Amino acid sequence: MKIKLNSKSPIGVFDSGLGGLTVIKALQKILPNESFIYLGDTANVPYGNKSNTTVIKYSKKILDFFISKNTKAVVIACNTASSVAYDELKEKYDVPLFDVVRPSVDFANHISKTRKICIIGTNSTINSKAYLKTFKKIKSNCSITEIACPLLVPVIEEGWANTHIANLICKTYLHSLNKTDIDTLILGCTHYSIMSHSIKNVINKNIKMVFSGETVGIKLMEYLKKNSLINKKNKGHVNFFVTDYPQKFNELAEQFLDQKLNSIKCIKLP
Ligand code: DGL
Repeated sequence: MKIKLNSKSPIGVFDSGLGGLTVIKALQKILPNESFIYLGDTANVPYGNKSNTTVIKYSKKILDFFISKNTKAVVIACNTASSVAYDELKEKYDVPLFDVVRPSVDFANHISKTRKICIIGTNSTINSKAYLKTFKKIKSNCSITEIACPLLVPVIEEGWANTHIANLICKTYLHSLNKTDIDTLILGCTHYSIMSHSIKNVINKNIKMVFSGETVGIKLMEYLKKNSLINKKNKGHVNFFVTDYPQKFNELAEQFLDQKLNSIKCIKLP
């Protein structure tokens, strides 16, 4: 059944937890009149060390929830779900769906001068080889290095981003980059933007960081414009949903977004 899209409808954005807020922040800047529904699947965070089957199952439940809210587009604000679930979701759902892998690959490929790019992400993202496959698909001549950084998400969800411990962990994962001529670093996990100060502190000054939120935001805006789906009248807002423990999410989200969350609901997905 084809769904009817309406410019006034909200846009669904989801992640396992806090990471997708970095995407929301970028989307709010790029598309200030849009309304968003954010879902943080906090009952199941982290996604990055779960099997593909499990992440696909969680993602489908979230898509069903967004469809029930009549969203006009859905952004998978999670590199792990984008890497392992996007193809299957695209096949099953009619709603316009945006992953965060392809936009960052296009952008990094465009800006790298040394043609040497590094991607950091969760175990699942790196093991899926989704980034490598996408660089190949666009026939990039860049040489690609990938580093899994599985400790970063738990540290961020604990509220310890940009602390001394975070700096040490980032240094341990990333110091080898400084001996290469890599000039572009894709933060291939939406959580990592929250830790960008620690990352910046330990990498060479000339390395540019690529953030999922900004690159997917531009693609989404282009799509909405092209299909006359931009909401011109509304004053944009976000309705927040989580699947467990709203208190902690609320506290860290307010800190990160630097705004009060007007509504946050805890829901159980069937
Ligand atoms: N923020 C997500 C990502 O981009 C999920 C991380 C996780 O839950 O492990 O990969």
